[in-house]
Amino acid sequence: LISRASLGFVVSSVLYMVIGLFLGAYMFSAGIAGGNVMWMHAHLNLVGFVAMMIFGVAYHALPRFIGAPLHSDLLAEAHFVLANIGLLGMVGAMLATGRGTALTAFAFLEAFSGLLFAYNVVMTAMNR
Ligand code: HEM
Ligand code: HEM
Repeated sequence: LISRASLGFVVSSVLYMVIGLFLGAYMFSAGIAGGNVMWMHAHLNLVGFVAMMIFGVAYHALPRFIGAPLHSDLLAEAHFVLANIGLLGMVGAMLATGRGTALTAFAFLEAFSGLLFAYNVVMTAMNR
């Protein structure tokens, strides 16, 4: 059975993909290359679609490859919540105010949320 964290990451990944692809298509239609809009497009696709799909699949597959239960479902759920607040915050701040303090804060939140994934994977691999 799929866990809540895996399901959440897979569903949010698909939603970011749709937004990211349409933003890319809009960029062609509007002749936008570079700048804040390209950054939002690149990171909706790479952090939103690609990374979150990897997180969702990894939380499901890694424990099965390793043959041990995931170290912590709670940490995975915390990762899901923080990663989404981080990305929505990053993109929202870029849209609203551009590069600045808010964007930096959400960027570090996003980066911090990745530590939860790293810790959980390492602990699972050590069968702890
Ligand atoms: C409907 C699909 C897509 C369209 C129409 C599209 C369109 C664009 C456009 C117009 C640019 C501006 C760059 C330029 O003109 O040189 C761009 C940049 C970029 N796109 Fe997409 N894109 C699409 C899908 C994706 C996907 C799926 C990803 C990642 C998984 C992605 C990642 C990027 C990145 C990283 C950049 C920045 C490239 C750089 O730094 O030069 N795009 N895209
Ligand atoms: C905490 C998460 C992340 C933050 C805060 C972040 C921040 C940034 C910043 C500040 C730039 C320079 C853009 C500019 O000055 O216009 C950049 C560029 C880029 N990043 Fe990230 N990044 C993150 C995660 C990622 C991830 C996970 C990937 C790939 C899977 C990625 C791929 C890229 C690429 C391809 C570019 C060049 C394209 C562009 O300039 O838009 N980033 N990122």
